Amino acid sequence: MDTPPSKTVALHLTEYPEEEMLQRAKNFYGLVNRRRSVRDFSDRPVCRQVIEQCLLAAGTAPSGANRQPWHFCVVSAASIKQQIRQGAEREEREFYQRRAPDDWLQALAPLGTNESKPFLESAPYLIVIFAEKHGLDAGGNKIKNYYVPESVGIATGLLITALHHAGLATLTHTPSPMKFLNQILGRPAREKPVMILVVGHAARDTRVPDIKRKPLADIASFFD
Ligand SMILES: Cc1cc2nc3c(=O)[nH]c(=O)nc-3n(C[C@H](O)[C@H](O)[C@H](O)COP(=O)(O)O)c2cc1C
Repeated sequence: MDTPPSKTVALHLTEYPEEEMLQRAKNFYGLVNRRRSVRDFSDRPVCRQVIEQCLLAAGTAPSGANRQPWHFCVVSAASIKQQIRQGAEREEREFYQRRAPDDWLQALAPLGTNESKPFLESAPYLIVIFAEKHGLDAGGNKIKNYYVPESVGIATGLLITALHHAGLATLTHTPSPMKFLNQILGRPAREKPVMILVVGHAARDTRVPDIKRKPLADIASFFD
């Protein structure tokens, strides 16, 4: 039996009749099933408050021992986007021309990606997501974080879903290595860059790769 927490608050959860529950679950699947990674963005501006609300949603993610080991750098300044594009394209050139093993290049081929990343400047927002390897207390002493990749992954999923729900397009972009992001954004070495989330409106008439999602029977097993 767990020991009860020292201080508690009321739980505010809404429950639904079974039929409504199923309809809501179907509606949510319908919504997230329309999300696609977009690689061609328009420069149409996006209201900063929308981004702030989506970040608040991301910050509700569960995290190991409630450490909330994430930090989101929200970049809209053209000069910083330009630096990020230069850093990313430098790593991507290395990757596509030298570092990438053949099997990886073959896996990427259907997506049509290459070292050119114009969306890093055309999209109105880049959200650079950092994972805090450890925290610091008021005295500057190291505080241990727990399940950091899992926690940041959940927060990122919520962020992508919140942005999509608000009608925005995203791309998870992971140039490798990403250390250059710490330098450009002045983040400490105890924070590991996880990805650049490119955010904005898709360019007009954008088309996306024809990929298939695995059926339920392939992604889940039921033990009744
Ligand atoms: C961790 C992670 C890293 C990714 N990195 C890149 C990337 O660097 N560049 C890119 O164009 N797409 C990247 N993607 C997007 C995937 O290619 C994409 O999610 C996948 O093909 C499925 O397509 P969908 O997002 O449209 O469903 C990444 C996705 C994930 C989850």
